[in-house]
Amino acid sequence: MVELKTPGEIDAMAAAGRVVARALEAVRAEAAVGVRLRDLDAVARAVLRDAGATSPFLNYQPRFAPTPYPGVVCLSVNDAVLHGIPTGYRLRDGDLLSVDCGATLDGWTGDSAISFCVGSGTEDDERLIERTEHALHAGIAEARDGARIGDVSAAIGAVARDAGYGLHTDFGGHGVGRTMHEDPHIPNDGRPGRGLRLQIGMTIAIEPWFLAGGQDAYRVDDDGWTLRSADGSRGAHAEHTIAVTAEGPRVLTTL
Ligand code: MF3
Ligand code: CO
Repeated sequence: MVELKTPGEIDAMAAAGRVVARALEAVRAEAAVGVRLRDLDAVARAVLRDAGATSPFLNYQPRFAPTPYPGVVCLSVNDAVLHGIPTGYRLRDGDLLSVDCGATLDGWTGDSAISFCVGSGTEDDERLIERTEHALHAGIAEARDGARIGDVSAAIGAVARDAGYGLHTDFGGHGVGRTMHEDPHIPNDGRPGRGLRLQIGMTIAIEPWFLAGGQDAYRVDDDGWTLRSADGSRGAHAEHTIAVTAEGPRVLTTL
């Protein structure tokens, strides 16, 4: 079921989204050579706590997962692209880090992700990140009243294909609101004009993730969570929670 939100509820979701944006920027600011992933999780925890928010990631256990999620952020390094667990790993110069964070405030949830290079990034990595962000914004631009889910999906898929990146329709976007994962599912590829019609009041997370090697194959670590490219190539992930409004798409996970 898709629950349509009132303008007041969308403002409440934007308050949760601002907490997510603050946590992501705090993690970005702390992420440096030698810093441990679990230290970055602690940075995000502090931002959520200070805001009076809780984490929809912590202890989350979807069907695919063997254990409850142990952190408030997913930290995916290099060939890991989604659901990386905050471990004792220390960041190195040139690591490509994807950070995914959620927050629940006053009963409403925001979900967002960023990717960036630690220290000096290569041109290839910077391009992968830039194209992933571009796909996110291309998808957001389609999220208008009367458009179809397939319009959003196709916009994302086209960017990956043009760039020659690997693209998988597992783990795409999703409805978000009172909980982190709601209907509808928003695949990262699809056909324009197909699928559910978007309406004013829908709130969705759009989240492209691309693999530099051009293959779509991935594997999951023994931890049951960390998703890596099968070919060892690097991945990038970008995500915003947005609302479909009478004025067009509104990004909620922003300062
Ligand atoms: N943005 C991710 C998603 O929608 C957040 C879930 S990560 C988890 O799948 F750790 F909470 F599972
Ligand atoms: Co998400």
